[in-house]
Amino acid sequence: MQKTTLYGKMVAEEVEILVDELSIRRRVKELADEISRDYEDLKPLIVAVLRGSFVFVADLIRELEVDAKVDFITLENYEAGCNARGQTRVMADSTSHLSGEHVIVVEDIVDSGLTLHYLYKDFLAREPKSIEIVALLSKASSRRADVRVKYVGFEIPDRFVFGYGLDLQGKYRGLPFVACLKDDREA
Ligand code: IMP
Repeated sequence: MQKTTLYGKMVAEEVEILVDELSIRRRVKELADEISRDYEDLKPLIVAVLRGSFVFVADLIRELEVDAKVDFITLENYEAGCNARGQTRVMADSTSHLSGEHVIVVEDIVDSGLTLHYLYKDFLAREPKSIEIVALLSKASSRRADVRVKYVGFEIPDRFVFGYGLDLQGKYRGLPFVACLKDDREA
């Protein structure tokens, strides 16, 4: 099936776009400019939280004007695509050497904040020089853990979103925008 046909059909009938492609592109550039200013001469270590942040981090690092190292950690904390919250599990972690680094955690979305709270504590114990968090999306109204996100792309309502790296039941990560299902309010 052609990607455009599938997405066109979804957009027309079922999907509400919350953040469009152009807004994402502009905001990613703004975030990158801010980070570049803050980390001038520091060579930060960017740690992208997989899987959902892979599109965001790819766009972000290409807009950065500082030389950054990039690493990845894979966490699993949702049943595929539904709203039920499980425990956070580390599936893969290649970030053993954080000591002395200026770490920037790149997350797709902060919802309850529990995932980042867990990760922040874990990373802090590895004695980096500094840790900051950048998240493309934030659902401030559903926060349950106190977590300080220095760089936020967009505040969004408490809806289940997908696209731009985020999946809905394993699908639609390649959508260039962030969307939700029109009828998800009862889900
Ligand atoms: P938190 O621990 O509740 O803040 O959840 C953070 C993680 O849950 C994110 O990294 C996502 O993987 C996932 N998540 C939260 N909300 C959504 C959503 O609306 N769509 C897709 N994934 C989400």
